[in-house]
Amino acid sequence: MYRILKKRQLTPVTALYVIDAPLVARTARPGQFVILRVDEGGERIPVTITDFDPEAGTVTIVVQQVGKTTHWLAQHGEGDTLADFAGPLGTPVALPDRGRVALVGGGFGAAAILTIAKELAKRPEVTVDAIVGARTASLLILSDEVGAVVDRFLPCTDDGSRGYHGLVTGLLEQEIAAVGYDLVMAIGPMPMMRAVAEVTRPHGIPTYASMDPIMLDGTGMCGACRVRVGGQNRFACVDGPFFDAHQVDFDEVTRRNKMYRHEERLALERWHQ
Ligand code: FES
Repeated sequence: MYRILKKRQLTPVTALYVIDAPLVARTARPGQFVILRVDEGGERIPVTITDFDPEAGTVTIVVQQVGKTTHWLAQHGEGDTLADFAGPLGTPVALPDRGRVALVGGGFGAAAILTIAKELAKRPEVTVDAIVGARTASLLILSDEVGAVVDRFLPCTDDGSRGYHGLVTGLLEQEIAAVGYDLVMAIGPMPMMRAVAEVTRPHGIPTYASMDPIMLDGTGMCGACRVRVGGQNRFACVDGPFFDAHQVDFDEVTRRNKMYRHEERLALERWHQ
């Protein structure tokens, strides 16, 4: 069992959990994820590692209430336990030793930026900008934590309540013209990552996107997380989650992610009854 040591509500539907998971914390690397089950027999859900502390033996995750399982998790608090917390899973993302990097985060994807930003902060020849978007200022999460470890924290809001008024892609375009980037990493909703890839493509800027397809086993055995990248089948759970965004077949991954929408909606409706 894995105890929730700390819980912090970030928005009305998003919470940060610090989990007692020493074995995961000891070997976790930026860009990896865990698959958790809230209780025995429950659904297995992949969650990106937001932070980890090998000495304290803790792993931090951020979860947004989307479906039945994440709503159920939201009802758990400090002192409660999770049945499974398997990881670290996935291939740690390859990070550069020099150059200017833009970390682009949308929605609660901004949480996944933190561990990468922290790792890049240790590399003196890397300059990091975090371009983070949300609908409104109150939905920008972990601004202080990310802001503390990057060179420039550049928020964007749809309503202009904080930072750049508009989408992350608008600000990214502006910053490419102003400072240029050697690498862009996008983490967030699929349409956002796709749009980021289209912004960077004409400039020839290497771009990673973090794929979050449906996952089951998380070990490359079931095929659920198949993603087409450069015309090849890749498995996000073992080959990813980060892939070359210019090579990802976003149409297919979007279609596959919608396959169980009906069942997901039904499960949530029944759970609410
Ligand atoms: Fe089964 Fe990736 S989740 S192969």
